[in-house]
Amino acid sequence: MTWLVTGGAGYIGAHVVRAMRMAGEEVVVLDDLSTGDPGRIAGVPLVTANVSDADSVTRALHDHAVQGIVHLAAKKQVEESVRLPLYYYRENVEGLRVLLEAATQAGVESFVFSSSAAVYGAPDVDLVDEDAEPRPVNPYGTTKLVGEWMVADTARATGLRHANLRYFNVAGAAAPDLTDRGVSNLVPMVFQALDRRQPPRIFGDDYDTPDGTCIRDFVHVGDIASAHVAAARALGSDAVRALTANIGRGRGVSVREMVQTIRRVTGTAEEPWSAPIVEARRAGDPPRVVASTDRIREVLGWRAEHGVEEMVASSWEGWSRSAAGS
Ligand SMILES: NC(=O)c1ccc[n+]([C@@H]2O[C@H](COP(=O)([O-])OP(=O)(O)OC[C@H]3O[C@@H](n4cnc5c(N)ncnc54)[C@H](O)[C@@H]3O)[C@@H](O)[C@H]2O)c1
Repeated sequence: MTWLVTGGAGYIGAHVVRAMRMAGEEVVVLDDLSTGDPGRIAGVPLVTANVSDADSVTRALHDHAVQGIVHLAAKKQVEESVRLPLYYYRENVEGLRVLLEAATQAGVESFVFSSSAAVYGAPDVDLVDEDAEPRPVNPYGTTKLVGEWMVADTARATGLRHANLRYFNVAGAAAPDLTDRGVSNLVPMVFQALDRRQPPRIFGDDYDTPDGTCIRDFVHVGDIASAHVAAARALGSDAVRALTANIGRGRGVSVREMVQTIRRVTGTAEEPWSAPIVEARRAGDPPRVVASTDRIREVLGWRAEHGVEEMVASSWEGWSRSAAGS
């Protein structure tokens, strides 16, 4: 079966592409390369286009006889989405609308949508499950929630089999060349500071949590990729017709604990300049967001296999190599 992976040249997308090919699936990538890197997907057919370009999407679906889509292409920076909400609605919502229209016209049967824990906003529970009422607190999260509704509504009208996968905080690299080089996530942000011999920044240590810093559910990108393989197979074989599921580890790690792990793994813990400094809270950062993972375990038989040390060590290897220019 052939899958179109949108955003397949991105950090998570390239991991999904590699895992799906290793599992024996045919893959073609559609990516506008706005943040993606074609070097991550050498040897994989690539259509360079925006998902809002209906003609290119339709041609790609027909030329490659696509039967399933994994849709990862999106803008993902929370702060930017607050400044430029309409840009996020255009890229994430209008892009998805065009893609779904082309997909249903082309008879695509399965659709995996890259959603996010951002749909929950600031859940007031230890472990948030999929039945919690979604209350996104920024335009990025809203675009993901609207996207889930669009996929589900389309499925109701057409019979499209679908999975909305809500990723928690993705980190790590399954291979050094696939490492996350953007600095909008915590781990690369801390790496960048340490590279410059500057203290990493922690935003707020006065939250109602054990060490006062925010608590997140970090999940290895290799585990995210294997969840996509499991979802794609379940949809493709008709074992699952509709699923909304968290992808996390179900374990909370505080930002301060994560920074300490990074200092230890990078061998900088003894350096005085590596001690974190605390700055003011960022607007819209919820205190604690940790996944309940019961549903994905029950429906797909999937669970995360990698721990936080592996996430940091694998990212650091890729980061150091690209810093050294290799
Ligand atoms: N990184 C995380 O922690 C995280 C958490 C939850 C959800 N997600 C979601 O996962 C997906 C992938 O995120 P990532 O971290 O790999 O980001 P990324 O920026 O590395 O990848 C996004 C890819 O999509 C492409 N792209 C963006 N907009 C496009 C468009 N309109 N048309 C065609 N291509 C487009 C980019 O060039 C890039 O290759 C996104 O949908 C994001 O919202 C990420």
